[in-house]
Amino acid sequence: MSAKNRDTLGLGLESSCDETSVSVVRNGRDILSNLIYSQIDLHQAYFGVVPEIASRAHLETVNGLVDGALREAGVSFADLGYVAATQRPGLTGSLLIALQSAKAISYAMNIPLIAVNHLEAHLYAPFLEGREPVYPYIGLLVSGGNTALYQVRGVADFTLIGKTVDDAVGEAFDKIAKLLDLGYPGGPVVERMARTAVLKKKLFPKILPEPGGGDYRFSYSGLKTAVIQYWRANPRADRCELVYSFQERALEILVRRVFAASREFGINRIVVAGGVAANARLRELLAGAREEGEEVIIASPVLCTDNAAMVAGIGYRYYRKGLYSPLDIDVSARV
Ligand code: KG4
Repeated sequence: MSAKNRDTLGLGLESSCDETSVSVVRNGRDILSNLIYSQIDLHQAYFGVVPEIASRAHLETVNGLVDGALREAGVSFADLGYVAATQRPGLTGSLLIALQSAKAISYAMNIPLIAVNHLEAHLYAPFLEGREPVYPYIGLLVSGGNTALYQVRGVADFTLIGKTVDDAVGEAFDKIAKLLDLGYPGGPVVERMARTAVLKKKLFPKILPEPGGGDYRFSYSGLKTAVIQYWRANPRADRCELVYSFQERALEILVRRVFAASREFGINRIVVAGGVAANARLRELLAGAREEGEEVIIASPVLCTDNAAMVAGIGYRYYRKGLYSPLDIDVSARV
């Protein structure tokens, strides 16, 4: 296919954790391909991501995915206007694979390299589904590695309002699943089991005081400890009821904080992104807590977890602003 003159095709690459993904996106909006290779099988036995295994698997997979993504989109390297890759945050050895591949493509094809912040990319995901990006918004990012609230004013213009002081919420789901021997990753199985709980009790106390007053920190280690202690004291407890109770408290922490921030900052648009945003109960609770005039925007579940379409998408916005990256840019494990 030859791109229409007005169209810009971008290639996105993602390898920050345990998904290798490559995507072709047109005009930061239309997903022409979005190939995702999940390494879950490789890490399952360890109940978490093993960095060395992850980076090796990214290396072995990335070239095939680049070819496949171009083929599926019906385009060639010569049609690309820019190449974007996740540069931060994530596992250093893993991040290197997508960024180095993108550098090679940028150099060989003489097209701009766009280094993307993974967190900003996640928050862009809902704008790949037919809606124009809108600013400002309060961004809630909930995944296996991050739980954070942002005030997002525009492209490349966002401030952290609060984050977890210990575990990320997805990590808490994974650890509870491990405790109860439910497999990895924990989120989907916990959600499924919680739905079947017969008795819907609140077994665990509220862990943190109400949010507000500028304090938007999250914490999950207290809740995790409460679940561990309960399970040790009640080894015959019904696991569905246990995970129901855990999930209610875990999600309540998110819902309270995001609405408190939206009201305190006077920003009535909320974007929720990251793997945990795939959780249907979270969507239900957010809808229930929403007041008139408040808008909650969440991507479809498939775009909530790690993928390269969101990288190519936010990359397009950087490209349009001329925010290119130098070829000697390095990865960063931190935000
Ligand atoms: O964004 P993501 O794919 O990348 C990482 O941070 O690795 O998020 C993965 C996390 C895992 O912790 C997983 O348990 C959690 O998102 N997750 C969920 C659900 N689906 C995935 N948590 C709760 N409910 C779900 N349905």
